[in-house]
Amino acid sequence: MCGIVAYIGNRQCRKILLDGLKRLEYRGYDSAGIGILVHDNAMQTSGSNNGSKAAISIVKEAGKISELEAKLDGNGLDGTTGIGHTRWATHGVPNQANSHPHTDCSGEIAVVHNGIIENYAEIKEDLSAKGHIFLSETDTEVLPHLLEDYMKNETGGDLLIAMQKLLRKIRGSGAIVVMSASSQDELIAGRIASPLIVGISKEGNFFASDMPAVLEHTHNFIVINDFETVRITKDSVEIYDIDGNTLHREPFKVNWSMESAEKSGYEDFMLKEMFEQPYGIRETMRGRLSGSELNFDEINLSDTQIKKLKKIQIIACGTSYHAALTGKLIIEKWAKIPVEVDIGSEYRYRDPIIDENVLFIAITQSGETIDTLAAIKEARLKGAKVLAITNIVGSTAARESDSVVYTHAGPEIGVCATKTFTAQLMVMYLIGLYLARARGAMDNSMFSKILNELDIIPNKVQKILNNAPKIKRIADETYRYTCFLFLGRIFGFPMALEGALKLKEISYIHAEGYAAGEMKHGPIALTDTKTVVVGVIPRDHVYEKMLSNLQEVKARHARLFALVTEGDSNTGKYADYIFELPNTIEELYGILAVVPLQLYAYYIAKNHGRNVDQPRNLAKSVTVE
Ligand code: F6R
Repeated sequence: MCGIVAYIGNRQCRKILLDGLKRLEYRGYDSAGIGILVHDNAMQTSGSNNGSKAAISIVKEAGKISELEAKLDGNGLDGTTGIGHTRWATHGVPNQANSHPHTDCSGEIAVVHNGIIENYAEIKEDLSAKGHIFLSETDTEVLPHLLEDYMKNETGGDLLIAMQKLLRKIRGSGAIVVMSASSQDELIAGRIASPLIVGISKEGNFFASDMPAVLEHTHNFIVINDFETVRITKDSVEIYDIDGNTLHREPFKVNWSMESAEKSGYEDFMLKEMFEQPYGIRETMRGRLSGSELNFDEINLSDTQIKKLKKIQIIACGTSYHAALTGKLIIEKWAKIPVEVDIGSEYRYRDPIIDENVLFIAITQSGETIDTLAAIKEARLKGAKVLAITNIVGSTAARESDSVVYTHAGPEIGVCATKTFTAQLMVMYLIGLYLARARGAMDNSMFSKILNELDIIPNKVQKILNNAPKIKRIADETYRYTCFLFLGRIFGFPMALEGALKLKEISYIHAEGYAAGEMKHGPIALTDTKTVVVGVIPRDHVYEKMLSNLQEVKARHARLFALVTEGDSNTGKYADYIFELPNTIEELYGILAVVPLQLYAYYIAKNHGRNVDQPRNLAKSVTVE
């Protein structure tokens, strides 16, 4: 995820900004930059800027902060007001032009931004028509230009009011921090849906996306809420609502260590990332699903090409493979296109049949998994069009495919995939819907019903997360068992596989996932008093079948933990533990069911004292065959 740090005060800020950005490195980034207000006389060193002329000087670079530092080396750039940013690409590859800060035409306004501007294309078109020239591929670059336009034409040069207008104009998410050469004694910020805090100290004030960026300078913070704007000077903080009314908010004191601040107070990155899922899912929908519209131009296929598709082939490994299995079920049901799913490491060695009417989809959160990359190569050699779904902009999978759909889960630091998985599931739903519409395979009422349900899925995931203590209690009571079987049917089956994978990779306990109907063909021999069976049994069209399967394992004395739809009074008669999922349509239960399964694996692993962020023998990107 991108990181922001900004300072205005009595001290020279170059080091403050660079140190702050380094504190955010753990979040992942691909480029970095700073902008500093430079005065043309010596008044700046006394802390007073009155009357001196100023200009904004920007240095930015793709790659690590050390490369930015190398570029700054020996150039003497410093000042008492500055903004800094680490970028994690969402629009446009990681390069210098796309790095932040971005400026307006005159270079008088500089902006850093975290988030996604959904309507940037139309804003860019309007501003281009007025003569604005854009130098990057980013969505962010429209922000300084929009502010310039407002200041020139509508707010009489007032940056704060321009920011309030801007928050009304943009759709999407953003923590936005701005400095202007013409209002040198202030920094202005605004927020929609992306974290933004103010840090307060005797020597000056800060904006930051996260506390670790400024924790060595202050422990006093104010949290900024959605649609609020803020003006900070070196000795004051003013908060306003979107209409310009003043808001009063007392700072609070934080006693976190640097380590716990990096994890936002969570014990592990994995826990933090599981709790970030509502945000990651929403960000992945952003710009693609708005109101009753589904825009998915990234797929880069005309309706005629989509109508001609004979087959879709999906390739993935590990957790991404479980997203692929869900994709198959969704696309076949909604778009009526046959889908084949293969594990990357198998596909390339089995001489697959491919032609130009087969769409090849590769799912990989890292974009670097060697088995998936080899499969992409194989498919392209055979003439297929390849669509990559990845979380990393500019990754090898993105570069080596014909088109890319990015998940916007933000960087995942824990080795095991959690928030990238639910973001992949969301992409599978959106692709299924898009293809169904293009082929005329879904009627309007079903289409609207699914869109409406997708829109509220993040709230339902949040509801599950709010109930995490209940999962913890179940884990505390069952963690000593040595055999875990995860069962599901249809949309619950890939989640059973994923639940088992999560448990084995972070707890090192033997676990297997099965299609529940398969139990009687062998695995049921395993069930006895030492087994925990976890059943995914939402209210869907195979509910009765699933219930019978669970009764069968209960009869063999297994401990039974069931994930049910809220209000299900039946399953509880057989299960030892019940966890309720919010009600949804049957195709979407997977994205809800996997969240308690992730939490369950996590709490069991913690009971065993495991390092859940870096489980043994595993790596975040698997770049060996
Ligand atoms: C499990 C996990 C792995 C990955 C697999 C594929 O938590 O993270 O199973 O899913 O190595 O990785 P990507 O998606 O990067 O291709």
